[in-house]
Amino acid sequence: MSERFAPPVIPLVDLRHTTMPPPEPGDGAELAPKGLPIDTLGRNLRDLRISVTDRCNFRCSYCMPKEIFDKDHTYLPHTSLLSFEEIVRIARQFVNLGVQKIRLTGGEPLLRKNLERLVEQLSKLRTMDGSPLDLTLTTNGALLAKKAKALQAAGLHRVTVSLDGLDDTVFRRMNDVDFPVAAVLDGIYAAQEAGLGPIKVNMVVKRGTNDQEILPMARHFKGRGIVLRFIEYMDVGVTNGWRMDDVMPSEEVIKRIASELPLVSLEPTSSGETAQRWGFADESGAHDISAGEIGVISSVTKAFCGDCNRARLTTEGQLYLCLFANRGYDLRSLLRGNVTDEEMALAIGNIWRQRTDRYSELRSTITPDKRAGARRVEMSYIGG
Ligand code: GTP
Ligand code: 5AD
Ligand code: SF4
Ligand code: SF4
Repeated sequence: MSERFAPPVIPLVDLRHTTMPPPEPGDGAELAPKGLPIDTLGRNLRDLRISVTDRCNFRCSYCMPKEIFDKDHTYLPHTSLLSFEEIVRIARQFVNLGVQKIRLTGGEPLLRKNLERLVEQLSKLRTMDGSPLDLTLTTNGALLAKKAKALQAAGLHRVTVSLDGLDDTVFRRMNDVDFPVAAVLDGIYAAQEAGLGPIKVNMVVKRGTNDQEILPMARHFKGRGIVLRFIEYMDVGVTNGWRMDDVMPSEEVIKRIASELPLVSLEPTSSGETAQRWGFADESGAHDISAGEIGVISSVTKAFCGDCNRARLTTEGQLYLCLFANRGYDLRSLLRGNVTDEEMALAIGNIWRQRTDRYSELRSTITPDKRAGARRVEMSYIGG
């Protein structure tokens, strides 16, 4: 472990000793279809994000700053990681509880050896009505040109690529490992060629660092069948030194783009969506479908906790109910103990039923002092 950084101790709940009551009539459970769990705020469980590694080949300052994630940093030992069989067994319980979308994340998920084998197994899962899952992956794109075809053949549906600018100097500075932008663009187009679309590109905007890249990015991806999304820089974890001054509100991003490329607001495609959609407009002001759309993800200025249906499973098998949670639930112990699938599903369902998390909605009520002292999980551990 790096001497300068001890990760916050996050209490994990050992579920083997937890007896949670089944849902009571009147606790809201009757609102969920076929007894599926809904949380205390009436939210369904639809989206499972699985982190498959805590390692990354980039050192983006907003996520894994080099000074902290240096050569002395200790990553999780192999024995701590869930095996593919374990991941699939847990994922199956989530699917039986209503999950329809699975996203593989990291760190950088393409660093996990033989990831295609996991994709292959997950792609065989079926939702409760017999449909395939929406199976996707978030990557920094470095290894995508090499792996796109194999991932598609294994059953992956689509990918989302993180890219914070088109200018090579800016991009190399942001990934902080001198990685060239051209190689990521090759990855994006290889994925498109392989049929891993609709491809989304996520750009985290940090004011004064890469906001000059907003317009070049919008111009570049317009009309290419790729959905570019601008993400407000968030206060995830405790290592990135987040300051409100570094956040560029989505409203400003939209204004800047619309000053050159007219935009029209679009309806959400599904409930619980992270991004607000904007279409490129034609001369009459209507959405020009061939030009495509962009999105903004405004977790700082316009929280979207109200219908948040996302659960997160860490590389070690801890279940987190929020990106900003300060505790996880130890599903790995449960899995490696002697429990049946039904018992595991019951435990997960009960955890979801007790969920109260809505950090982004509460952010403004938390004082900077409390924020600084808070224990919170890192993005590279929990996945984006
Ligand atoms: P699609 O299904 O492709 O639309 O994906 P998505 O937008 O649900 O997921 P993605 O991982 O692409 O999310 C993009 C970014 O939004 C993440 O990298 C995070 O920065 C942010 N984000 C995603 N989910 C949440 C969430 O539940 N809470 C908050 N605060 N931010 C989130
Ligand atoms: N704020 C917003 N998004 C972040 N990501 C990582 N750290 C942050 C942060 N502090 C997102 C980026 C990256 C994905 C893996 O997680 O979009 O592409
Ligand atoms: Fe790696 Fe993605 Fe984090 Fe950058 S944002 S350090 S690419 S996990
Ligand atoms: Fe969901 Fe937590 Fe993000 Fe709110 S802050 S949208 S509850 S993950």
